[in-house]
Amino acid sequence: MLTQEVLEEVRELKRDCIVLAHNYQIPEIQQVADFVGDSLGLCRAAQRIDKPYILFCGVDFMAESAALLNPDKTVLMPDLEAHCPMAAQLPAKLVREAKEEHPDAAVVLYINTRLEARAEADVLCTSANAVRIVRSLPEKKIIFGPDVNLAWHVQRHVRDKELIPVPERGHCITHLLFKPEHVKRAREEHPEAEVLIHPECTPEVQLLADHICSTEQMVRRAKESSAREFIVGTEVGLVHRLRRELPEKRFYPLYEGAICRTMKMNTWEKFMKQLRERRNAVRIDPEIAERAMLSLQRMLELSA
Ligand code: 13P
Ligand code: SF4
Repeated sequence: MLTQEVLEEVRELKRDCIVLAHNYQIPEIQQVADFVGDSLGLCRAAQRIDKPYILFCGVDFMAESAALLNPDKTVLMPDLEAHCPMAAQLPAKLVREAKEEHPDAAVVLYINTRLEARAEADVLCTSANAVRIVRSLPEKKIIFGPDVNLAWHVQRHVRDKELIPVPERGHCITHLLFKPEHVKRAREEHPEAEVLIHPECTPEVQLLADHICSTEQMVRRAKESSAREFIVGTEVGLVHRLRRELPEKRFYPLYEGAICRTMKMNTWEKFMKQLRERRNAVRIDPEIAERAMLSLQRMLELSA
């Protein structure tokens, strides 16, 4: 729990700075953030910034998206080394090779991708809008990366297109920790609970879900559903947000050990240091920025 004194200090320091935080951030950061959400919500929030500084609490690809959308502002991160391991699995070279092999395909990349690769994409997507984005394209063949599990989820809902995963086995190491046994055990322990599963989980786990959702869609589902209990199949940070916003309902993490080490690199101490000192500015090569911006803008237009 943050003291009144700390909250007052944060309020003073935030006069010229907006704090954006992903749903997996530690509870203290979520508590003082101006906006907490999923990857898509954070992009949309980054389009409406009216202060010169953004302190982005998440991982590299999210802060880079905010920087692309705000070239005249300074985007800071608590830790500039918070690189998403999934994004590192798709070098731009692999996308270029796939394009050569399938010249008639559109390239849809999950936003969890480095800028060099994004510069090769026609459009980005997040877990919240991937099905909609792929459906909206005229091409029948879709090069899709880096998450093979999200690709499986999209293919399941878009039968008239062929998805070509690049790389073949890209994945999130945190969501790979969930196993079908976790779902079976959780259902036995909480038979009344709805099971919410993130599409970064394996197909075996997704098949056992009641709903497949992005992190923000999980919050919305928990608010709208008449169910009183939920099993949450994503990183445990989201459980804090659900319990804070819906204290009258019960939330059980599908697996307590599902912790994204990269997201948790943003400690409270590092957060406060950047709020005070503002040194960790995200820098983007202007040449890549121009091309990477196109795929991001197209995603925002298609999911408006
Ligand atoms: P969303 O919050 O967009 O569902 O993404 C989850 C995730 O793993 C982000 O890195
Ligand atoms: Fe990357 Fe997975 Fe962590 Fe999200 S949860 S930042 S996809 S490693």
